[in-house]
Amino acid sequence: MSDRHEGLVIGNWKMNLDHVEAIHLTQQLGVLHRNTNIENVVTVLAPPFTDIRSVASVIEADRLPFQMGAQHVHHLEGGAFTGEISIPMLRRLGVKYIVVGHSERREYFGMTDAIVNQTLTAVVAAGLTAVVCVGESSTTREEGDAARFVRDQVGVALDRIKSKFASNVVVAYEPLWAIGTGAVPTGEQVAEMASTIRAAVPSDWEERTAVLYGGSVKPDNAELLMRNGDVDGFLVGGASLTADGFLQIVKVVSDCYSKKR
Ligand code: PGA
Repeated sequence: MSDRHEGLVIGNWKMNLDHVEAIHLTQQLGVLHRNTNIENVVTVLAPPFTDIRSVASVIEADRLPFQMGAQHVHHLEGGAFTGEISIPMLRRLGVKYIVVGHSERREYFGMTDAIVNQTLTAVVAAGLTAVVCVGESSTTREEGDAARFVRDQVGVALDRIKSKFASNVVVAYEPLWAIGTGAVPTGEQVAEMASTIRAAVPSDWEERTAVLYGGSVKPDNAELLMRNGDVDGFLVGGASLTADGFLQIVKVVSDCYSKKR
């Protein structure tokens, strides 16, 4: 873990759970959270767009300590872009964190590095936090090119972003070969990449820009990854779909930060 004083855990529900199921999961998370001693962690839920209003209502009504997130957004404010969602729409719903350039958006929906940069620029300009995803494929890693690849991705994503926005940027290291596969890098490999990422952000950003790890994070590997990985928390996919599993991961991050204080 790094020297920051608060952890960050984001649950990316991907294209799972309709709004009724989402309400149910949020309520379960609320009950478990109340019965678990969790401190020093910002916990973010990033459900599908159609669930955001419902999840936000449960968070508000039950006064749950969760922040709203979204999995993607269009970089323009509005217009003829059938099927897209804008930043003002999400902000109105109370969304604070937006995942930008997830590898699934890059791979299946043609999100280029340039669009990632435009989206990140628009998200931070709106006062929200952009969680930009970077990570190499297994081929790139086998070729020994992972560090250069990730460094370049970070460089392009942050191109021309002003330093005043440093704390509105979170970088999530998500190696493609670990997403949804059950394969995870060692803590040392994560730490190496976290340090590559910190070296790739402008030098005065380092303290303010959080670095997360994502890719098959589960309750049983979270502690090692946290202990040895030098990250500020996790971006969790599959394991964020059950209240128990997700809260166990949040608890691991909480315990690490509480020990430190
Ligand atoms: P996973 O997904 O935890 O299911 O591997 C992580 C992600 O894609 O953000």
